[in-house]
Amino acid sequence: MRLKGKVAIITGGANGIGLAACERFAEEGAAVIMADFDEAAGKEQEVLFKEKGYEITFCQVNVVDRESVAQVAEKTIELYGKIDILINNAGITKDATLLKMEPEDFQRVLDVNLTGVFNCTQAVVPHMIAAGAGKIINTSSVSGVYGNFGQTNYAATKAAVIGMTKTWAKEFGRKGININAVAPGFTATAMVRKMPEKVIHQMESAVSLQRLGKPEDIANAYLFLASGESDYVHGHVLHVDGGIMM
Ligand code: NAI
Repeated sequence: MRLKGKVAIITGGANGIGLAACERFAEEGAAVIMADFDEAAGKEQEVLFKEKGYEITFCQVNVVDRESVAQVAEKTIELYGKIDILINNAGITKDATLLKMEPEDFQRVLDVNLTGVFNCTQAVVPHMIAAGAGKIINTSSVSGVYGNFGQTNYAATKAAVIGMTKTWAKEFGRKGININAVAPGFTATAMVRKMPEKVIHQMESAVSLQRLGKPEDIANAYLFLASGESDYVHGHVLHVDGGIMM
Protein backbone atom coordinates (compact mmCIF):
# COMPACT_ATOMS: atom_id res chain seq x y z
CA MET A 1 0.00 0.00 0.00
CA ARG A 2 2.62 2.51 -1.13
CA LEU A 3 -0.01 5.13 -2.11
CA LYS A 4 -2.49 4.68 0.71
CA GLY A 5 -4.55 7.85 1.21
CA LYS A 6 -3.17 9.51 -1.95
CA VAL A 7 -5.26 11.00 -4.74
CA ALA A 8 -3.92 10.65 -8.29
CA ILE A 9 -5.05 12.06 -11.63
CA ILE A 10 -3.81 9.92 -14.54
CA THR A 11 -4.39 11.41 -18.00
CA GLY A 12 -4.79 8.98 -20.88
CA GLY A 13 -5.84 6.49 -18.22
CA ALA A 14 -8.40 4.55 -20.25
CA ASN A 15 -5.95 2.64 -22.46
CA GLY A 16 -2.41 1.30 -22.67
CA ILE A 17 0.18 2.53 -20.20
CA GLY A 18 -2.25 4.87 -18.43
CA LEU A 19 -4.70 2.04 -17.86
CA ALA A 20 -1.97 -0.15 -16.35
CA ALA A 21 -1.01 2.80 -14.13
CA CYS A 22 -4.61 3.28 -12.94
CA GLU A 23 -4.72 -0.35 -11.82
CA ARG A 24 -1.24 -0.32 -10.26
CA PHE A 25 -1.95 2.88 -8.32
CA ALA A 26 -5.33 1.59 -7.09
CA GLU A 27 -3.72 -1.69 -6.00
CA GLU A 28 -1.34 0.40 -3.91
CA GLY A 29 -4.20 2.20 -2.19
CA ALA A 30 -4.61 5.42 -4.21
CA ALA A 31 -7.93 6.98 -5.19
CA VAL A 32 -7.53 7.37 -8.93
CA ILE A 33 -9.13 9.79 -11.38
CA MET A 34 -8.88 8.14 -14.79
CA ALA A 35 -8.94 11.21 -17.05
CA ASP A 36 -9.29 10.40 -20.73
CA PHE A 37 -10.91 11.54 -23.96
CA ASP A 38 -12.08 7.99 -24.73
CA GLU A 39 -15.40 7.84 -22.90
CA ALA A 40 -16.39 4.33 -24.06
CA ALA A 41 -13.17 2.67 -22.85
CA GLY A 42 -13.07 4.82 -19.70
CA LYS A 43 -16.59 3.96 -18.60
CA GLU A 44 -16.07 0.26 -19.34
CA GLN A 45 -12.82 0.16 -17.37
CA GLU A 46 -14.35 2.12 -14.49
CA VAL A 47 -17.02 -0.58 -14.06
CA LEU A 48 -14.44 -3.40 -14.21
CA PHE A 49 -12.19 -1.68 -11.66
CA LYS A 50 -15.10 -0.97 -9.31
CA GLU A 51 -15.98 -4.69 -9.46
CA LYS A 52 -12.45 -5.38 -8.20
CA GLY A 53 -13.05 -2.96 -5.33
CA TYR A 54 -10.72 -0.24 -6.61
CA GLU A 55 -11.36 3.46 -5.95
CA ILE A 56 -11.25 4.64 -9.59
CA THR A 57 -13.46 7.33 -11.15
CA PHE A 58 -13.55 8.03 -14.88
CA CYS A 59 -13.65 11.71 -15.91
CA GLN A 60 -13.81 12.58 -19.56
CA VAL A 61 -11.22 15.19 -20.50
CA ASN A 62 -9.67 16.71 -23.56
CA VAL A 63 -6.26 17.85 -22.33
CA VAL A 64 -6.16 20.43 -25.14
CA ASP A 65 -9.26 22.16 -23.76
CA ARG A 66 -8.45 24.22 -20.67
CA GLU A 67 -12.08 24.33 -19.52
CA SER A 68 -12.32 20.54 -19.66
CA VAL A 69 -9.04 20.20 -17.73
CA ALA A 70 -10.24 22.69 -15.08
CA GLN A 71 -13.39 20.59 -14.61
CA VAL A 72 -11.34 17.47 -13.86
CA ALA A 73 -9.30 19.32 -11.24
CA GLU A 74 -12.51 20.73 -9.70
CA LYS A 75 -14.19 17.31 -9.69
CA THR A 76 -11.17 15.77 -7.96
CA ILE A 77 -11.20 18.47 -5.28
CA GLU A 78 -14.97 18.03 -4.88
CA LEU A 79 -14.56 14.26 -4.39
CA TYR A 80 -11.40 14.14 -2.28
CA GLY A 81 -10.43 17.71 -1.28
CA LYS A 82 -6.87 17.38 -2.67
CA ILE A 83 -4.66 16.26 -5.56
CA ASP A 84 -1.43 14.51 -4.51
CA ILE A 85 -0.27 13.11 -7.83
CA LEU A 86 -0.57 14.10 -11.50
CA ILE A 87 0.57 11.73 -14.24
CA ASN A 88 0.71 13.61 -17.55
CA ASN A 89 0.46 10.43 -19.63
CA ALA A 90 -2.02 11.26 -22.44
CA GLY A 91 -0.33 11.35 -25.83
CA ILE A 92 -0.81 10.70 -29.54
CA THR A 93 1.27 10.05 -32.64
CA LYS A 94 0.70 11.19 -36.22
CA ASP A 95 3.81 9.88 -37.92
CA ALA A 96 5.23 10.86 -41.31
CA THR A 97 8.67 11.80 -42.56
CA LEU A 98 9.32 15.54 -42.58
CA LEU A 99 8.47 16.24 -46.22
CA LYS A 100 5.23 14.24 -46.00
CA MET A 101 4.04 15.59 -42.66
CA GLU A 102 0.85 17.64 -42.89
CA PRO A 103 1.05 20.92 -40.93
CA GLU A 104 -2.21 20.06 -39.14
CA ASP A 105 -0.74 16.72 -37.99
CA PHE A 106 2.34 18.54 -36.75
CA GLN A 107 0.14 20.97 -34.82
CA ARG A 108 -2.26 18.35 -33.44
CA VAL A 109 0.57 16.38 -31.84
CA LEU A 110 1.94 19.58 -30.31
CA ASP A 111 -1.52 20.45 -28.98
CA VAL A 112 -2.06 17.13 -27.19
CA ASN A 113 1.46 16.11 -26.13
CA LEU A 114 2.83 19.53 -25.24
CA THR A 115 0.04 22.05 -24.61
CA GLY A 116 -1.97 19.28 -22.90
CA VAL A 117 0.82 18.74 -20.36
CA PHE A 118 1.05 22.50 -19.80
CA ASN A 119 -2.73 22.79 -19.31
CA CYS A 120 -3.01 19.90 -16.84
CA THR A 121 -0.02 20.98 -14.79
CA GLN A 122 -1.21 24.58 -14.62
CA ALA A 123 -4.62 23.41 -13.37
CA VAL A 124 -3.21 21.14 -10.68
CA VAL A 125 -0.12 22.94 -9.34
CA PRO A 126 -2.02 25.59 -7.31
CA HIS A 127 -3.63 22.79 -5.25
CA MET A 128 -0.22 21.23 -4.64
CA ILE A 129 1.31 24.60 -3.67
CA ALA A 130 -1.53 25.13 -1.18
CA ALA A 131 -0.84 21.68 0.29
CA GLY A 132 2.95 22.20 0.26
CA ALA A 133 3.38 18.80 -1.41
CA GLY A 134 2.76 16.93 -4.63
CA LYS A 135 4.22 14.63 -7.27
CA ILE A 136 4.08 15.32 -11.00
CA ILE A 137 5.29 12.78 -13.54
CA ASN A 138 5.49 13.73 -17.21
CA THR A 139 5.66 11.13 -19.96
CA SER A 140 8.47 11.71 -22.42
CA SER A 141 9.80 9.02 -24.79
CA VAL A 142 12.99 7.56 -26.20
CA SER A 143 11.97 9.46 -29.35
CA GLY A 144 12.37 12.73 -27.46
CA VAL A 145 15.83 11.72 -26.24
CA TYR A 146 17.31 10.15 -29.38
CA GLY A 147 14.92 11.28 -32.18
CA ASN A 148 13.03 8.74 -34.29
CA PHE A 149 12.43 8.27 -38.00
CA GLY A 150 9.04 9.69 -39.04
CA GLN A 151 8.40 11.44 -35.73
CA THR A 152 9.32 15.11 -36.19
CA ASN A 153 6.20 16.24 -34.34
CA TYR A 154 6.21 13.56 -31.66
CA ALA A 155 9.96 13.74 -30.91
CA ALA A 156 9.71 17.54 -30.65
CA THR A 157 6.98 17.28 -28.02
CA LYS A 158 8.71 14.56 -26.04
CA ALA A 159 11.98 16.53 -25.95
CA ALA A 160 9.98 19.59 -24.88
CA VAL A 161 8.41 17.61 -22.05
CA ILE A 162 11.92 17.04 -20.66
CA GLY A 163 12.59 20.79 -20.83
CA MET A 164 9.35 21.55 -19.01
CA THR A 165 10.05 18.89 -16.37
CA LYS A 166 13.44 20.40 -15.53
CA THR A 167 12.04 23.93 -15.55
CA TRP A 168 9.17 23.02 -13.23
CA ALA A 169 11.55 21.09 -10.97
CA LYS A 170 13.45 24.38 -10.55
CA GLU A 171 10.29 26.44 -10.07
CA PHE A 172 8.39 24.17 -7.66
CA GLY A 173 10.99 22.17 -5.71
CA ARG A 174 10.93 24.87 -3.04
CA LYS A 175 7.14 24.44 -2.80
CA GLY A 176 7.52 20.77 -1.88
CA ILE A 177 6.46 19.50 -5.29
CA ASN A 178 8.48 16.67 -6.80
CA ILE A 179 8.64 16.71 -10.62
CA ASN A 180 10.17 14.04 -12.82
CA ALA A 181 9.72 12.45 -16.24
CA VAL A 182 9.64 8.89 -17.52
CA ALA A 183 10.99 8.15 -21.01
CA PRO A 184 9.45 4.84 -22.05
CA GLY A 185 10.92 2.75 -24.82
CA PHE A 186 8.72 0.97 -27.34
CA THR A 187 5.85 -0.43 -25.34
CA ALA A 188 3.18 -2.90 -26.44
CA THR A 189 0.09 -0.68 -26.63
CA ALA A 190 -2.23 0.49 -29.42
CA MET A 191 0.31 3.25 -30.22
CA VAL A 192 2.91 0.67 -31.27
CA ARG A 193 0.50 -2.00 -32.54
CA LYS A 194 -0.61 0.32 -35.35
CA MET A 195 2.94 0.26 -36.78
CA PRO A 196 3.94 -2.27 -39.51
CA GLU A 197 5.03 -5.67 -38.14
CA LYS A 198 8.46 -5.31 -39.75
CA VAL A 199 9.06 -2.06 -37.86
CA ILE A 200 7.96 -3.69 -34.59
CA HIS A 201 10.50 -6.51 -35.14
CA GLN A 202 13.22 -3.93 -35.83
CA MET A 203 12.30 -2.16 -32.58
CA GLU A 204 12.49 -5.40 -30.60
CA SER A 205 15.92 -6.27 -31.94
CA ALA A 206 17.20 -2.76 -31.10
CA VAL A 207 16.39 -3.40 -27.43
CA SER A 208 19.09 -5.06 -25.30
CA LEU A 209 16.41 -7.09 -23.52
CA GLN A 210 15.08 -8.12 -26.97
CA ARG A 211 11.44 -7.38 -26.19
CA LEU A 212 8.98 -4.51 -26.22
CA GLY A 213 8.07 -2.98 -22.88
CA LYS A 214 4.84 -4.01 -21.18
CA PRO A 215 2.48 -1.25 -20.00
CA GLU A 216 3.12 -2.52 -16.45
CA ASP A 217 6.87 -1.86 -16.85
CA ILE A 218 6.12 1.83 -17.32
CA ALA A 219 3.36 1.88 -14.69
CA ASN A 220 5.88 0.58 -12.14
CA ALA A 221 8.21 3.49 -12.94
CA TYR A 222 5.32 5.94 -12.49
CA LEU A 223 4.57 4.25 -9.17
CA PHE A 224 8.15 4.66 -7.92
CA LEU A 225 8.18 8.35 -8.86
CA ALA A 226 4.73 8.90 -7.29
CA SER A 227 5.64 7.18 -4.02
CA GLY A 228 7.62 8.43 -1.04
CA GLU A 229 10.51 6.19 -2.13
CA SER A 230 11.54 8.80 -4.72
CA ASP A 231 11.30 11.90 -2.53
CA TYR A 232 14.90 12.94 -3.30
CA VAL A 233 14.64 12.20 -7.03
CA HIS A 234 13.85 15.54 -8.68
CA GLY A 235 14.06 16.89 -12.24
CA HIS A 236 15.10 13.43 -13.40
CA VAL A 237 14.30 11.61 -16.64
CA LEU A 238 13.91 7.92 -15.89
CA HIS A 239 14.54 5.79 -18.98
CA VAL A 240 12.43 2.63 -18.99
CA ASP A 241 13.38 1.16 -22.35
CA GLY A 242 14.99 -2.25 -21.92
CA GLY A 243 18.36 -0.71 -22.79
CA ILE A 244 17.87 0.76 -26.25
CA MET A 245 20.89 3.05 -26.15
CA MET A 246 23.42 3.34 -23.37
P1 NAI B 1 -2.40 4.75 -26.05
O1 NAI B 1 -2.73 5.27 -27.40
O2 NAI B 1 -2.60 3.29 -25.74
O3 NAI B 1 -3.16 5.59 -24.93
C1 NAI B 1 -3.16 6.99 -24.95
C2 NAI B 1 -4.39 7.49 -24.24
O4 NAI B 1 -4.41 8.91 -24.30
C3 NAI B 1 -5.71 6.98 -24.87
O5 NAI B 1 -6.54 6.44 -23.88
C4 NAI B 1 -6.31 8.23 -25.48
O6 NAI B 1 -7.74 8.25 -25.48
C5 NAI B 1 -5.74 9.32 -24.56
N1 NAI B 1 -5.78 10.63 -25.20
C6 NAI B 1 -5.38 10.94 -26.45
N2 NAI B 1 -5.63 12.23 -26.71
C7 NAI B 1 -6.20 12.75 -25.59
C8 NAI B 1 -6.68 14.04 -25.24
N3 NAI B 1 -6.65 15.06 -26.10
N4 NAI B 1 -7.21 14.21 -24.01
C9 NAI B 1 -7.26 13.18 -23.14
N5 NAI B 1 -6.82 11.94 -23.42
C10 NAI B 1 -6.30 11.73 -24.64
O7 NAI B 1 -0.87 5.17 -25.81
P2 NAI B 1 0.23 4.59 -24.82
O8 NAI B 1 1.17 3.79 -25.60
O9 NAI B 1 -0.40 4.03 -23.61
O10 NAI B 1 0.99 5.95 -24.44
C11 NAI B 1 0.90 6.59 -23.18
C12 NAI B 1 1.99 7.63 -23.11
O11 NAI B 1 3.27 7.00 -23.23
C13 NAI B 1 1.92 8.67 -24.24
O12 NAI B 1 2.29 9.95 -23.75
C14 NAI B 1 2.97 8.18 -25.22
O13 NAI B 1 3.45 9.20 -26.02
C15 NAI B 1 4.01 7.63 -24.26
N6 NAI B 1 4.91 6.68 -24.85
C16 NAI B 1 4.45 5.51 -25.40
C17 NAI B 1 5.34 4.64 -25.98
C18 NAI B 1 4.90 3.35 -26.60
O14 NAI B 1 5.75 2.70 -27.23
N7 NAI B 1 3.65 2.92 -26.46
C19 NAI B 1 6.79 4.92 -26.02
C20 NAI B 1 7.15 6.15 -25.39
C21 NAI B 1 6.24 6.99 -24.83
